[in-house]
Amino acid sequence: MKSLYQLLNDKNGVAVAPSLLAADFTALEKEIREVEDSGADFLHIDVMDGHFVPNISFGPMIVSAISKLASVPIITHLMITDPKQYSERFIKAGSSVLTFHFEAMESGHRDIVEMIHDLGCEAGLAVNPDTPLSAVKHLLNDIDLLLVMSVFPGFGGKGFIDEVLVKIKEASDYREKHNLRYVIEVDGGVKPDNASSVRENGGQILVAGTAIFGSENYNSSILAIRG
Ligand code: DX5
Ligand code: ZN
Repeated sequence: MKSLYQLLNDKNGVAVAPSLLAADFTALEKEIREVEDSGADFLHIDVMDGHFVPNISFGPMIVSAISKLASVPIITHLMITDPKQYSERFIKAGSSVLTFHFEAMESGHRDIVEMIHDLGCEAGLAVNPDTPLSAVKHLLNDIDLLLVMSVFPGFGGKGFIDEVLVKIKEASDYREKHNLRYVIEVDGGVKPDNASSVRENGGQILVAGTAIFGSENYNSSILAIRG
């Protein structure tokens, strides 16, 4: 299977990952087909535990059902307090990339990355809007994806925090300078009218929930976000 890095290269460095959190759950299969037919490059799945974030979404059984329906790779975004305990289940459920939050753990970040890799999955590290890049620099050599949150996690439909653009650029420059390979994903409030600044600053996988599932035409929204 191709690595995330190779997949991104094939897509000229920019991809769109619809967040299923904003999909119509009464018609999940139809939503997945429609968004894939409309050009989704990945599916972004938001897992919330009601503890790390004040909202509850779904667990590994739903991820497993989605992965049976999906034909594009699944990026699972764990917004949970104890990612290490649940990583294996979410990987076995069909995640291609498993992303955990830096803020969810006081230590052991390297261990979980190693564990994810040992289970044959790629590892993503997510950072909240108020976590500086300097806090995670020591981990950037090990990860496959850096998820820069452009809203505080927990809910879809919130406004993009513009200050995060500087961090995206910093992460992109740092990767160039140190010749690293992580892909930069940006999540929260991304829509056609701010997508170009996300891309110009180095965002490569653009996550969008309401801007896609809340729109009349998924294809034109995806094309507009991809640019
Ligand atoms: C927020 C989630 C996001 C969210 C994106 O906690 O991680 O993935 O669903 O939704 P929009 O695009 O509506 O901000
Ligand atoms: Zn997310």
